[in-house]
This record gives sequence, structure tokens and C-alpha cells, in this order.
Amino acid sequence: MLGDTKLKTLQELIDNSTQEELIWISGYLAGLLRNGAPAEPATKPAVQKLTLAFGTDTGNSKKLASTFASKAKKSGVHVKLQSLDQYRLSDLPKEEYFLVVISTHGEGEPPAAAKKFYDYIHENTARLDKLNYAVLALGDTSYPLYCKAGEDVDVRLQTLGAARLLPLQKCDTDFETEASAWFEDVLKTLGTAPSTTRSAPVVHKKSHHKRNYLGTILSNVNLSGRGSEKQTHHIEIEASDVDYQPGDSIGIVPENPSEIVEAVLQLVNASGNKKLLYREEEITVYDLLKKKLNIVYLPERVVKQYAAIVMQEIPSTRIDLLNLLKIYPVKDAAHFEEVIGILEPITPRLYSIASSLAAHSGEVHLTVALDHFTVNDEVGHGLCTNYLVNLPEHTSFEFYIHKNSEFKLPQASKDIIMIGPGTGIAPFRSFIEERDASGASGRNWLFFGDQHFQSDFLYQTEIQSYLQTGALTRVDVAFSRDQPEKVYVQHKVRAKGQEFYQWLEAGACVYLCGAKEPMGVDVEDAVVQVIREFGNKTTEQAQGYLSQLKEEGRYQKDVY
Ligand SMILES: Cc1cc2nc3c(=O)[nH]c(=O)nc-3n(C[C@H](O)[C@H](O)[C@H](O)COP(=O)(O)OP(=O)(O)OC[C@H]3O[C@@H](n4cnc5c(N)ncnc54)[C@H](O)[C@@H]3O)c2cc1C
Ligand SMILES: NC(=O)c1ccc[n+]([C@@H]2O[C@H](COP(=O)([O-])OP(=O)(O)OC[C@H]3O[C@@H](n4cnc5c(N)ncnc54)[C@H](OP(=O)(O)O)[C@@H]3O)[C@@H](O)[C@H]2O)c1
Ligand SMILES: Cc1cc2nc3c(=O)[nH]c(=O)nc-3n(C[C@H](O)[C@H](O)[C@H](O)COP(=O)(O)O)c2cc1C
Repeated sequence: MLGDTKLKTLQELIDNSTQEELIWISGYLAGLLRNGAPAEPATKPAVQKLTLAFGTDTGNSKKLASTFASKAKKSGVHVKLQSLDQYRLSDLPKEEYFLVVISTHGEGEPPAAAKKFYDYIHENTARLDKLNYAVLALGDTSYPLYCKAGEDVDVRLQTLGAARLLPLQKCDTDFETEASAWFEDVLKTLGTAPSTTRSAPVVHKKSHHKRNYLGTILSNVNLSGRGSEKQTHHIEIEASDVDYQPGDSIGIVPENPSEIVEAVLQLVNASGNKKLLYREEEITVYDLLKKKLNIVYLPERVVKQYAAIVMQEIPSTRIDLLNLLKIYPVKDAAHFEEVIGILEPITPRLYSIASSLAAHSGEVHLTVALDHFTVNDEVGHGLCTNYLVNLPEHTSFEFYIHKNSEFKLPQASKDIIMIGPGTGIAPFRSFIEERDASGASGRNWLFFGDQHFQSDFLYQTEIQSYLQTGALTRVDVAFSRDQPEKVYVQHKVRAKGQEFYQWLEAGACVYLCGAKEPMGVDVEDAVVQVIREFGNKTTEQAQGYLSQLKEEGRYQKDVY
């Protein structure tokens, strides 16, 4: 079809092109034919405009999306970078190229900031035939529902008729390398975007494993004094090569109590020494039940699968494996192995780091409150807190660092206000140590609260000493149960509203840590009230002021 000269030129071009350039050329030509568009200079990417939306809770997706946006801009692509909570949903059907970077939180849920978008695409049926998309899913392989939110978004967009540019990429907590490689692929594909096929198969690339550290308990002390209703421990862990920043947390996969594992094995008459293959590793049944699989408070989905195995009707409820086996027994040890197959991994728990490397090199400190609950008049304890508070000195265990780029100290000269009742104090001990060690010039104001002054003033001596040295500028405390009426940190915030507002006006950053509800919500309401009252604003204006603080990274929270 081509004359000799053209054929020779084409052959030369092919011979001198790399594999990647050939793919680009092929897509470029396909696009040209499909769109009937005039040829553009080959130096320009075929796609010149795209939207990069991120859904984040602790900032990883945002950080990646921002890096990608600047890379894409350098490649000549115009990028609209947006958080999913700011994204105008009515724009979605008009989009042509749409990249989503989204993490998973809770139990397989989207981050709160992505919930509106997630619900919208799942509740709406409007076709997205114009849309070409790719999803980068951040998650953690230790969770049973790994990267579930990203998976759901990827599947749903395709169901709505959008074309997948690239297979879904899932990333574990060490996501940097894989995420960058994914984006390189995206950029290459954008050069050949028109050649994408609708319904490309999902191929999961193998994830890198996360970086685990080996920690050894240096000390494990109950901070709660005599008469306290709580048991809050200060735990010091040695890990010589550990690296983190104030505001980060550690992730721990707790072990199940030995007596429960033994009771389960005895009940089903199984040997703990038998070896099974689990995640490409040979492991004894005992270790599998002790260290890997969740056997307490099984989720309803697992109970449902159990019911199918024992062929019984079981009400949909959460229950421990031991009780399940007692009420709905398996036939024998072989039958029990089927049950092992449906058990999910133990979910990691996060703990805010309460130390700074500047003050304690090679160490991680934690503030852990023993979780207790009551079922049928019997007190139970949370799995991980019970495991941690009982770890003796010199015990070693694995952990990993969960980075949180949305909870970070500002420049040294900026003032900070820290509000952290109960274990919410933990990251602020880290903040204060860091600022003290580095001689930061900004002022530091701490609000702390707990049940009783006598027994629950966590880190009282340290806090008083920081006040004396000036490392802490101000401290306000609220002991909720030392008087007939409850007094909480937000009451102190309101009582000091004028100074609080002055600090805000002078550029202070506010940090909030501790229980998400109701504390986190009530404190935020109090901050709005202070801004309204002392800034002479309407409620709407005060809320706008707070939104602005959030946008500027001057109001950060880490609540759980
Ligand atoms: C970013 C972040 C930072 C955090 N920082 C800290 C910190 O610094 N300090 C701290 O102490 N915590 C912190 N947490 C909370 C911590 O991760 C855990 O959620 C908490 O310690 C409880 O864990 P657990 O394993 O002991 O309890 P779990 O075993 O997970 O139990 C939690 C709850 O589930 C229910 N439950 C569990 N088992 C049963 C059962 N058999 N029957 C009925 N109900 C049951 C109970 O309501 C119980 O209270 C943080 C969380 C996050 C996300
Ligand atoms: N099961 C739950 O619903 C729940 C909720 C939060 C924390 N926890 C768990 O409880 C353990 C201990 O938590 P913690 O020590 O960090 O703190 P905490 O138990 O939440 O209590 C710290 C202080 O905050 C006060 N507080 C209670 N409600 C508040 C509100 N609405 N606003 C402001 N302050 C409020 C408490 O007062 P009073 O206790 O006197 O009211 C107490 O003085 C952790 O294991 C955590 O996981 C469980
Ligand atoms: C409280 C909590 C719950 C989580 N739940 C899941 C989960 O169910 N599945 C998963 O794959 N990852 C889960 N993760 C891991 C996060 O998705 C992972 O840390 C990710 O890098 C966070 O990205 P972000 O900072 O953009 O939110 C969870 C993390 C936290 C803190």
C-alpha cells in the first residue's frame, strides 16, 4: 500500500524506535484514525488535559497525587488536581481523562473525604461513556479488605461505561516505588490514550512488602494512679534503625491469647504442630491461630461462611471463634481445617508515637489505654491493648510505621495549640519533645483532659517541667470527674476563647487528637463557637474561617 520511499522511511523510524516509542506511535495513529483529528506535533502528548482526584485520610494519597500532578505538568499535560471532597460530582460525566488515587480506611471503607464521591458513583446510574480512567489504590495487606475502596471505585466506573486506561494498581504501605511506576505507565498510556480498549482485564501487580521493624520493650509502665478507673500505659520500645516523624503512628498486629488458641485446639481435637501453607509460607496450626488469624469477635461475613461449612443456620452476629465452635461444633480436625480457610488475618491496630527521635534516638514510645467493654455482665479487653500492656520487658515484636503527612508540625517559628484528652496526649508529647530538642521559637499551648487529677494526669511531671523551662507556653487541663458537672477540654477552650482566637489570628496551627466521637466533634464545635464569638462572626462565617484553616493545614486532627 505504501510506496517504496514511504515504506523505507517507516522502516527506518521503526528500527530507530524503542519499544515504548513504538507503543506510543501505534496509539497515536489509532487515535488519529478514530478521531479523524488533524495530526499534531509528535512531541505533544495525545492527551493534554486530565483530572487527578485523591481521596485521603492521612495524607498519603494527597502527597502522591500532588507529586503526579507536577510530573504530568512537566510532560505538558494540563492537570486539575482535586480532593474528592471538593470535586463537583456533576463534572464527572463531562470528564475525559480521570485519575483517582484513593486509600481504604475503617473496615474496607473509603476515607471520609471520599465518601460523597464513592456514594455518588454507587447510587447513580448515569453513563460515563466519555470517561477514560485509572485508579491507584492505597491500602495495607494486613487488613482483610485490602484496597477495597479503590477496587470498588475501579469496578464501578467501568460498570458505568468508563474505559479503564490501566489495570487497577494496589499498593501496600510502602507504596512509593509502585505508585511512581504506575504513574509512569499512566503518562506513557496518555500518549497512546485513544487506543485503550473498553473493559481491559484487571491484572494485579505484585505488591512490595511493607517495611517491618523489630522492636524490643524497654519499659512498660502503668501511668494511671491508684484508684483510677483506667489503665493507661507508657511503653518504651527500642528499635535501633527506626525512622519516623512526630505525628506518625505505629502499626501492630497483636497476637491472640495463648489460652484461647489452646482451648480452640483442644475443643476440635486438632494438633497445633501440623504445618499448613499460609500466604506462601509454611506455618504450624498453632502459630497460625496465635499470630496470623483473627479468632476473636469474628465479622458477620466470616460467621456466615462458618454457617455454610457446618451447614447450620446461625444468626448474623459477631462472635468469638471459641464460642462459635462450642455452639455449632465441627465434626473433626479435618472439618476444622476448612474453618481455618475462612478466617481473616488479624487486623493491625495503630498507636500514635509519643516520642521524638530528636529526644530518643532509636526508640518509639507509646501511650496505650487498655480497652474494656462489657458483654453479658462480663468485662472483656480489647485484643491489642491487652496484648501490649502485658508485654514484659525485653520482649520483641514487629511493627511498622504509618506515616501521616496530614498531622505534622509547622515551621519552627509558628505557634501551635494542641488539644489532646486521654491518649490524645501521645502525639503532643512527641511534638513538644521535638520542638524542645530543636529549640523551635514558636509558642506551644496544650489542652489536656482525663477523668481525675489525682490518678489520670498523664505525664504530669513532664508537663510541669516543660512549663517551667518554657518548652510549653501554656497548659489548660480539664478533669471530667473531679466535680459534679463534667468538665471537658472544650469547656477550657471556650473559657480561654479570647486568647485562643488571638493565637489563631497570629497564625497559630491547631491540632486535635483522641477519640473521634463525641470528643472530636464537640471540640470542633467549640472552636467554631470561639471563632464566632471572639471574631465577631456569624456561624457561617466562623465555619468558613475554620474551613480556611483546614485548607491552609492550620487545623489538623488525628482522631480514632
Ligand atoms: C491513627 C490512630 C492512632 C491511635 N492512637 C492510639 C493511642 O495512641 N493510644 C491508644 O490507646 N489507642 C490509639 N488508637 C486506637 C487503637 O488503634 C485501637 O483501636 C484501640 O487501642 C483498641 O484496640 P484493641 O485491639 O485493644 O481493641 P479491639 O479488640 O479492637 O476492640 C475494640 C472494641 O470492639 C468491641 N469488641 C472487641 N471484642 C469484642 C468481643 N469479644 N465482644 C464484644 N465486643 C467486642 C468493643 O467495643 C471494643 O471496645 C489509635 C487509632 C488510630 C486509628
Ligand atoms: N468505646 C468507645 O466508644 C470509645 C470511645 C473513645 C475511646 N475509647 C477507647 O477508650 C480508651 C481510652 O480512651 P482515652 O483514654 O484516650 O480517652 P477517653 O476515655 O476518651 O477519655 C479522656 C477524657 O475525655 C473525656 N471525654 C468524654 N467525652 C468527651 C467529650 N465529648 N468531649 C471532650 N472530652 C470528653 C473523658 O471524660 P469522661 O470519661 O468522664 O466522660 C475523659 O476525661 C481507648 O482504648 C479508646 O480506644 C472507646
Ligand atoms: C484506621 C485505619 C483503617 C484502615 N483500614 C484499611 C482497610 O480496611 N484496608 C486496607 O487495605 N487498608 C486499610 N488501611 C491502610 C490505609 O489505607 C493505608 O495506610 C494508606 O496508605 C492510607 O492512605 P491515606 O493517607 O491517603 O489515607 C487503614 C488505615 C487506618 C489508619
